[in-house]
Amino acid sequence: MAYKSIKSVLSGAEAGSELTVKGWVRTKRESKNAIFVALNDGSTINNLQAVAEAGQLPDDTLRLITTGACLAVTGTLVESQGSGQAVELKIGEVHIYGPADPEKYPLQPKRHSLEFLREIAHLRPRTNTFSAILRVRHALAFAVHKYYNDNGFFYLNTPIITASDAEGAGEMFRVSTLDPLNPPKTEDGKIDYSQDFFGRETNLTVSGQLEGELGALALGKIYTFGPTFRAENSNTTRHLAEFWMIEPEMAFYELEDNMALAEDFVKSVIRYALDHCADDLAFLENRLIEEEKTKKKEEQSELTLLEKLRFVVDNDFERLTYTEAVEILRNSKPAKKGQFQYEVGWGIDLQSEHERYLVEKHFKKPVILTNYPRAIKSFYMKQDNEPATNSRGEVFGPTVRAMDVLFPGIGEIIGGSQREDDLDKLTTRMAEVGIDPEAIWWYLDTRRFGTAPHAGFGLGFERLVLFVTGMGNIRDVIPFPRAPKQAEF
Ligand code: 4AD
Ligand code: MG
Repeated sequence: MAYKSIKSVLSGAEAGSELTVKGWVRTKRESKNAIFVALNDGSTINNLQAVAEAGQLPDDTLRLITTGACLAVTGTLVESQGSGQAVELKIGEVHIYGPADPEKYPLQPKRHSLEFLREIAHLRPRTNTFSAILRVRHALAFAVHKYYNDNGFFYLNTPIITASDAEGAGEMFRVSTLDPLNPPKTEDGKIDYSQDFFGRETNLTVSGQLEGELGALALGKIYTFGPTFRAENSNTTRHLAEFWMIEPEMAFYELEDNMALAEDFVKSVIRYALDHCADDLAFLENRLIEEEKTKKKEEQSELTLLEKLRFVVDNDFERLTYTEAVEILRNSKPAKKGQFQYEVGWGIDLQSEHERYLVEKHFKKPVILTNYPRAIKSFYMKQDNEPATNSRGEVFGPTVRAMDVLFPGIGEIIGGSQREDDLDKLTTRMAEVGIDPEAIWWYLDTRRFGTAPHAGFGLGFERLVLFVTGMGNIRDVIPFPRAPKQAEF
């Protein structure tokens, strides 16, 4: 049977036309003269109101039209008598695909807490909030591919199962088909991975970067967009064990080019969402306004969601070095009053309290920090020749050509760098941090044969969705979150 999406009906079907829609009941309301059913099919945040006269539908049918039931409704589109919608569907015929026992159906037409909805993640896409998030997420993913395609990048699929630890951080999920109760052992009592499926120890990837570099040094400009896994035991509102990362990698780009690309890219995909998700963003903005009202005055955001998104799109990101940032932090009020949990000094890995101070209090806009201490960054980052100096002439180093993009309410949204293209410097650094050159001989071959300056970065897709939707917890912007002790659905 031909049917129309509710989105297409609401955005253009003519009054008087006969049509069928299919969807799930959000609410049913009965008055003396009529029955009103709000139907939603997921194509838009907006419901289509279907109306029957009192007594028109058999009692058996009427009883089954409850919140969550799935229906097909055929009827005539008419101009609405009531306020709140331009058109409504005058019901001719109703077919019930699936009733939803109101005693058992967990979603009721009222506000449910996000915590409760996380426990029913299999049904939460049927709520306004989650369907809006998922549509915005889709639009952003589409915008990512569009941006890179329009700018001459090639989509490269890097492996999900790998034998290398790209970030050198060791927070990986093992992939193995060995019997955990009785694994084969080597003579010295260790597990013998040579007998495992791949004949070696393998893990789920923490980043597609190393393989991305191979692509860039052949195709020029590539990007990856795939699932990424980290077994860090971070139970925060910003970390997932399984998340999606977008990693562009470009031959002949230096750090400045990398920054310019990151800024243009993020602005472009946010602009796409503003242009294509107006209804969903308006809904999410109102949701946030209600949520803000429950907070203390000083914690309330000065900007609404849409104002915040437009602000990011319309303003230049602030660029400064790590060394300059440390100076600002050391001279800040919270540092002087001892309000930071972690003390600030050159060489520390900035904590999110520091990042958020810079972005939310000091600059009040996105910030790109560069030239971090070498000791706290990955082995593959290009080493700076000159040491860093601050305004008082103090000298620090060594540093690397790293960049982190920090966003309000999020902290780090992008991490990247120019890459060390000098084989000797790279292998010397690897030896210092204990990475076996044999393990990634293929990576080092790019520096042996036709090496070139190159750079890239990784954008955490869920952190972007978090920012654009104004949600507060990363588990609410991915359909099925994976976090410590959480893999039910
Ligand atoms: O800063 P990270 O670790 O950088 C890399 O993996 C590089 N290989 C990227 C590159 O240069 N190609 O991660 C990049 C981004 C972070 O800025 C953050 O947005 C996101 O990935 N991210 C996470 N998002 C959700 N949950 C986690 N556990 C994340 N860890 C990193
Ligand atoms: Mg990082």
